[in-house]
Amino acid sequence: MSAYLLLKAVHIVFVVTWFAGLFYLPRLLIYHCQTTDPTARAQFHMMEDKLYRIIMRPSMIVTVLLGAALLIWQWERLAQMGWIWAKLVAVLILLGHHHFCGALIRQFAASGLPSEHRVSERFLRIFNEVPALLLIIIVILAVTKPF
Ligand code: HEM
Repeated sequence: MSAYLLLKAVHIVFVVTWFAGLFYLPRLLIYHCQTTDPTARAQFHMMEDKLYRIIMRPSMIVTVLLGAALLIWQWERLAQMGWIWAKLVAVLILLGHHHFCGALIRQFAASGLPSEHRVSERFLRIFNEVPALLLIIIVILAVTKPF
């Protein structure tokens, strides 16, 4: 087994753990949005904060570092392929989404009631679909390498 393939496998493992958080966090924010009970709101904040700091952020960092290592390792081959650049654009959007999730956690903690949130439940439901769409695009690009 080559070291390059092993690194690629670990890259994919961390993609999976990162996405576990990207999929679940907006769901927690929706539940958070639906309650005015201070005890429940504090509980949701704790769950969101832990998910973000303990699962999502470390997984995102390791995914990006391993992806960068793979890219540098095979730069000569990969730099000439269009799909990798298209994939990097999609990853940039995903990173923006990740940081926006962090901003929403802080905003929900700062506001006392759902009426003070700057985003609606409907927005969160649409926001929730963004990582799924990017996952499909990125995996198809990375696996089929179409151009
Ligand atoms: C900055 C972030 C990232 C960089 C720099 C990066 C870079 C790379 C590189 C260079 C490879 C090896 C390609 C090859 O050997 O032909 C790879 C493989 C792969 N990446 Fe990423 N990646 C990143 C993030 C992601 C994300 C967020 C996902 C999923 C949503 C992902 C999914 C995959 C998959 C499925 C493969 C295996 C493709 C194959 O069959 O060879 N990557 N990545």
